[in-house]
Amino acid sequence: MDFSGPVSHLGRMPDPIVSLENVHLTLPSRAGPVDILRGIDLSVRPGEALGIVGPSGSGKTTLLMVIAGLERVSSGTISVAGTLLNGKNEDALARFRRDAIGIVFQSFHLIPTMTALENVAVPLEFKGVADALGQAGKHLDRVGLGHRLSHYPGQLSGGEQQRVAIARALASGARIILADEPTGNLDLDTGKAIMDLLFTLKQEDGATLLLITHDPALAQRCDRIASVRDGRIMSGAHP
Ligand SMILES: Nc1ncnc2c1ncn2[C@@H]1O[C@H](COP(=O)(O)OP(=O)(O)OP(=O)(O)O)[C@@H](O)[C@H]1O
Ligand SMILES: [Mg+2]
Repeated sequence: MDFSGPVSHLGRMPDPIVSLENVHLTLPSRAGPVDILRGIDLSVRPGEALGIVGPSGSGKTTLLMVIAGLERVSSGTISVAGTLLNGKNEDALARFRRDAIGIVFQSFHLIPTMTALENVAVPLEFKGVADALGQAGKHLDRVGLGHRLSHYPGQLSGGEQQRVAIARALASGARIILADEPTGNLDLDTGKAIMDLLFTLKQEDGATLLLITHDPALAQRCDRIASVRDGRIMSGAHP
């Protein structure tokens, strides 16, 4: 019997799908080096929904960028979906992102010259999925946009654009969804509909969700809340 890990009534907890140990990130700026992440410890269990809150400038977005392998840490270890990100080259990080991560931003980040269908198909094509367009159509159907496949982002409402972005994040089968204030640019009702959708899809796919939000009600919907301040996690770092 292994008693080394935390034990719940279901037995030993699964290994974390996201694990950061003493992560520091220092970036240069004109005024000198800025310590943005200052000793982050964080672990997230598979299937968990983690809300990330904290004041503007505290390092929330940077934290997600580091977890997505879009920003390299200065020190500390970071392991996501079984991959140790330290020391990986750009190609390896791009493969890791393609296979493991779906990202939803506040300002949708769709490609303006591509239709909704093409936007969702892009990551599938990168992955070499046969019938990427057909699969993309199915995922747009899932978010209620089966009737908007050939619309360009400029021809879609904000809520519709965010639904395209969610379809794109989930289409490639990502096990981890990183969402950075996904309802920040939407009105209250649309924002609520988007969050309902995101939580429903997360549940259906058994994915792990890391959600940055300034909305306390939204954070409360998560299994746990991590509170970030001055580049550190003040509470909620571990299950
Ligand atoms: N490329 C960069 N170079 C230097 N400093 C940066 C860089 N990116 C971010 N920062 C600084 O790092 C700090 C954290 O930024 P970050 O975007 O992570 O904050 P945040 O918690 O997401 O804030 P908000 O709630 O406003 O989105 C800020 O002080 C910011 O100015
Ligand atoms: Mg931010």
